[in-house]
This record gives sequence, structure tokens and C-alpha cells, in this order.
Amino acid sequence: MSQELAVHGGKRTVPEGFVQTWPYVTEADQEAVMDVFKSARITDQQRIQSEGLTKEWAEYMGVKYCIPVNSGTAALHLCVAAVGIEPGDEVIVPAFTFWATAAAVLHHNAIPVFVDIDPRTYCIDPNLIEDKITERTKAIMPVHIHGMPADMDAVLEIAEKHNLKVIEDVAQAHGARYKSRLCGSMGDAAGYSTQASKTLSSGCQGGLFTTSDETAHERAKLLQYFGEIVVPGREREEQEYNAYGLGWMYRGDMFSQAFIRSQLKRLDENNSLRIRNCDFLTEHLREIEGIATPFVPDECDPVYYNYVVGFKPGELGLDIPPRILRDKVQDAMKAEGVPMGLWQRLPVPAQEIFQNGVGYGKGCPWKCHNSSVEYRPDDYPKAAEFIDSHCYVFDVNPPNDLELMGMYVEAFRKVMGNLDQIL
Ligand SMILES: Cc1ncc(COP(=O)(O)O)c(C=O)c1O
Repeated sequence: MSQELAVHGGKRTVPEGFVQTWPYVTEADQEAVMDVFKSARITDQQRIQSEGLTKEWAEYMGVKYCIPVNSGTAALHLCVAAVGIEPGDEVIVPAFTFWATAAAVLHHNAIPVFVDIDPRTYCIDPNLIEDKITERTKAIMPVHIHGMPADMDAVLEIAEKHNLKVIEDVAQAHGARYKSRLCGSMGDAAGYSTQASKTLSSGCQGGLFTTSDETAHERAKLLQYFGEIVVPGREREEQEYNAYGLGWMYRGDMFSQAFIRSQLKRLDENNSLRIRNCDFLTEHLREIEGIATPFVPDECDPVYYNYVVGFKPGELGLDIPPRILRDKVQDAMKAEGVPMGLWQRLPVPAQEIFQNGVGYGKGCPWKCHNSSVEYRPDDYPKAAEFIDSHCYVFDVNPPNDLELMGMYVEAFRKVMGNLDQIL
């Protein structure tokens, strides 16, 4: 049925103010943060919140060690340092990710080597990894992007064969599982972001490092706090003030840790509500020609950090690039009140820093280590295709529920059923 699209002045499908934003803050979250303020000795709270989160996240993940830090990038950098990566070493990362994955490698004076993605899951394609392994390769960093687990068995098998470490980037996938194993529990170390938008949110910035390897933990513990050995409970003036390594100030803060601890109690519940919302979208959107819903391998339980939507103009008999269809539909959907949009605009190796070899200046770290690694944008066609043909439905998080998801579906039907108005 022909209906006037909101982008042309028709009535919008989702009423103004109906979509609720993430993180979903409850009274319990507010109280958890207020309790930090109300504590008799606020300075004790740094240790109390950090120790509490350390224990609770390690328990949740089923790993031996956790270190709460101030960002996901810091957590990933600690992983790189903790597993023993050294200057000039090569680390394999996917060409499609937020570039912080690769930044964590560069920050350690090491060299990211990119591998294209499996377009069905948007994660690193294990079939392409071995071609990129050289004698300098020391680790593989799979990213569980958009809450979708990477093909970990294949990655772990290659790592074992070539004696490489595995660092999991779990910035977007808290609670996601691969063959029933939690993402972040399978490699040698893992970094998680708790930045506001993430599935485990601090409401601001934050991150978590985990490992079950004692040496990796010892290294990370030292380096996350200036490289100094800090004795818990000892007053600042009684510390040794002796740097044992080139560390950083990566400590997390107590307010966001209190908030995360409170959110962690509802992580599984929030994930299952988000999964229910996204399953509903898939069930209905898969019926609409020209739209591709997420592919979920049998062995994966994703948590849908965002809901990924693909565009297939060919299915509609349209001879236009997917990007054109995507952009037009996205604009029309936004006018209908559906929060939709883009994220990455380029594969990471096509970004300026890699094209210009900016790094630390003087061409380092590449030139300082006589690296022959090149970043040719055309080498990652699947990542580029994925970026050009997909976008995201945001706010699929609770407390948004099936009533709102029903409106999203209605808006998709309306826009896709009236493409003549926008093309
Ligand atoms: C895949 C991925 N890795 C790493 C990061 C870095 O996390 P943070 O922003 O907490 O430093 C992000 C954050 O957006 C991310 O999405």
C-alpha cells in the first residue's frame, strides 16, 4: 500500500521520544554510584571497587585474572604487552574493526598486519590468515565485532600450528559465546571496552583486561600502573617508587567501576532481552526483499552490539550499487524515527595513518624495524564491500522492547514498499 514517507512529510512511524537510550540505568545503578560518594573514606573506594570488579569479572568469564582499566584500548595494549609482543613484531588483525584494535599494536611499537573478513560474520576470515604469517608474526587478534564471535577454533588451530599468541578483542561482545565458550576466555589474553555504548557499559569510559596466564597477568599488573610494584592497602607514601618497566597510567576509576559492577548483575538479562529484540527483527525483516539479515553460524551465540542490516538491490531488480540503496533507505528510516546509521567508513588499512605511515613520526614503527608490510586498500575487498552495503539499527537494547521492534519492522516495510519515493 502506498503511504507517504516521513522523509517527504508523511507521519513518522516511531513517535518522538519513544526510543530509550543505552545504557539502561536503574535505581540500583544509581545507588551503587552514590554509595561510593557516601562512603566514610572515599579514598578507600578506589581499592574496594577495583578489587570487587576484578573478582566479579574474572568469575563471570571463568578466567584466573582480571585488571580493570580506563579504556578498551588500554586493555588491548596491556594484552599486547602482556603476551610478550616486542618492537617490530607483527600482529595479525582484521581489516574491519574499530582502529583501536590496530592502535593497541602500534602503541607497543609493533606492526599490525591486516587480514580480510568473512563477509557473512564480518569477523576475520581464518582461511586468509596463514598467507600473512611471516617469521616476525607473534600473535593473532580476532575481534568479535558487533557482538558476533569470530571463528575461534580455526584461529586457535592456526595459532598453535605457528606458535602464536591469541589476543581477543571483546570490546563489543561481553557475554557472547562460541561453542558455549565465552568470548574472551579462549585466547591467551582479552581486552574489553566498557565505554558508554558497549554491552557492559560504564556510562562513560573504561575497560577490562583478562588472562589465565600468570606471567601475562604479572606483566600487565606492573605496566598498568607506571611500571611500579604497588602493594595493595599500603599508603601512597609507603610505596617503593621504583619503576620496573615502561608502564602507563591505565587504572580505571571507582565511580565507573561501581556502575559496571551494578550493570554486570544484569548483563545476561540485558543480553537476552537484546537478543530477543534482534531475533524478532530477523524473523520479520528476512521477509523483505532487498534486505539481508545477520547470518548466525550454528556455533555462535552473538549478543548484537548493533543490529547489522545488509542491502541487496539486485533482489529488487535495481541496477544500482548497494551503497546508494543503503543511504537512501537509511535517510528515510531515520525520518521514520528509526535510529539507523553507519559506523566505519573505511577498512582500517585504508585509513590515513596506514596510508601515510604516520605512526610515531620518521616513518616509525615501520621504518625503524625495516618492515616490508604494505597497506594496499584493494587487498581487503570483503571489508570494503561490507562497509558499502551495510548499516546498523541502533537502540535494540532494553528497556526498548518488542513494541518498538514492531515499529522498526513497520518502518522497514513502509520504506521498502515505497522505494519509488526515494530512488
Ligand atoms: C572493536 C573495538 N576495539 C576496541 C575498542 C576500544 O575501546 P575504547 O573506546 O574503550 O578504548 C572499541 C571501542 O569502540 C571497539 O569497538
